[in-house]
Amino acid sequence: MLLIDPLLLLLIVLVIGASVVVVVLLSGRIRTASAAQQHKVGELASGIERGISSIRTVRASGATDRETAAVDGIAGEAYGLGVRIAKISSMVVPVAGIALQLSLLVVLGVGGFRVASGALSIASLVTFIMFLFMLVMPLGQAFGAITSVNQALGALGRIQEILDLPTETQDDESDAAVTAAPVAGAPAIEFRDVRFRYPDDVIAAREAAAKEARTLLVDAHLRRAGEADAEISRDVLKGVSFAVPRGARVALVGPSGAGKSTTLALIERFYDPTGGSIRLAGHDVRSYPRQQLRAHFGYVEQDAPTLAGTLAENLRLAAPDATDADCERVLRSVNLGDVLERSPLGLDAPVGEDGVMLSGGERQRLAIARALLTEAPILLLDESTSSLDGVNEQRMREAIDAAAADRTLVVIAHRLSTVVDSDLIVVLQDGLVVGQGTHDELIESTPLYRDLARHQLLV
Ligand SMILES: Nc1ncnc2c1ncn2[C@@H]1O[C@H](COP(=O)(O)OP(=O)(O)OP(=O)(O)O)[C@@H](O)[C@H]1O
Ligand SMILES: [Mg+2]
Repeated sequence: MLLIDPLLLLLIVLVIGASVVVVVLLSGRIRTASAAQQHKVGELASGIERGISSIRTVRASGATDRETAAVDGIAGEAYGLGVRIAKISSMVVPVAGIALQLSLLVVLGVGGFRVASGALSIASLVTFIMFLFMLVMPLGQAFGAITSVNQALGALGRIQEILDLPTETQDDESDAAVTAAPVAGAPAIEFRDVRFRYPDDVIAAREAAAKEARTLLVDAHLRRAGEADAEISRDVLKGVSFAVPRGARVALVGPSGAGKSTTLALIERFYDPTGGSIRLAGHDVRSYPRQQLRAHFGYVEQDAPTLAGTLAENLRLAAPDATDADCERVLRSVNLGDVLERSPLGLDAPVGEDGVMLSGGERQRLAIARALLTEAPILLLDESTSSLDGVNEQRMREAIDAAAADRTLVVIAHRLSTVVDSDLIVVLQDGLVVGQGTHDELIESTPLYRDLARHQLLV
């Protein structure tokens, strides 16, 4: 085309260049819309998840219509964004078409003029037009590809956001297994002046909310006092020290929000302390690779989650090699024998989504059975007896006593009756250890403990 008529080619390049600019602008908008759509679809999924997982609470609160409307609203927005993407993409192909028509018109007009003036032969003009078609036809496909790629890049951005989130192992100091033997005479677990505050992004979100509430107070003095308060109260643990001797039964007690569950979370290294150190058998927990560290513990969370699936799947989560006989033994030891016999499927009986087919107490006992099955040398139990009746609580204590005979046990309990005979009771209040000792010592020495005991009719 250059050899036939450079001027005509220049004109065509200008027309096509303009159409490329239009397409690139359009596909940039597709990219942002596609990223926004991914966000909305994510919101939609979490909205549905929220509604379904809390369906009884939603129904009981009479919030069905409001929750439905909220999810409907998000679905509508996601749909709107989808339509917008479709609208923009549908403009791209016509742009290619218009570019073809325009170039043809230009070539016919200018080319005709140049044939008339004798600068170009008719044969050359026809050849030029044939080449033009060959050039412009694939343009539509190329434009289509540009839009698809941009739509995909928008979605990829969302995936990248998730891949970029920090993972736990990134900040591991050590990946090599600790080979050093346990320090002789070192306690199983030791807290040395441990300070901890939850990571700033969580705190920041809470403070933003608090600030919003605070700006309502016009009095600057009040605001300053509030800020000082927030500064002090950020630390959840404010210098906690205690030791759990090997083989001992240790109880953590204290009012709600004192930092008991946080203490266990730090032992499991879900978080690292902001000050002080936690030692396992004399070595800082940070010197163990996380997996090796966690293999030391059987851990029962406060709300004892049950996984959808079967009894066996729940039990074998931490001990994949346990035999059926082991599973049955441990179930009977926590008084879950009847759950086993209830269904002809035995260990393969389903427990339902989040364990809905079990009662609250059964879920808790299943979680304890899971921890007992691991043979881990240290058991960490959080509120493990809170939804058990008296008889079951007694049996559970016997089971834990039996299982804990050769293990170290750290248990958080609200009911002092379950922990009075512990070797050591640590009383936490507002992130501080306000007393530690045996039941009798604490009754003497710690007013908070005395109050707790009095309320629970022990003295
Ligand atoms: N993931 C978290 N992010 C931010 N703050 C948290 C988080 N978990 C707990 N907290 C705060 O830390 C404090 C201590 O919480 P923790 O769960 O340790 O209390 P607890 O002693 O176990 O109470 P309870 O007896 O009610 O279970 C509370 O004020 C709580 O609001
Ligand atoms: Mg707790």
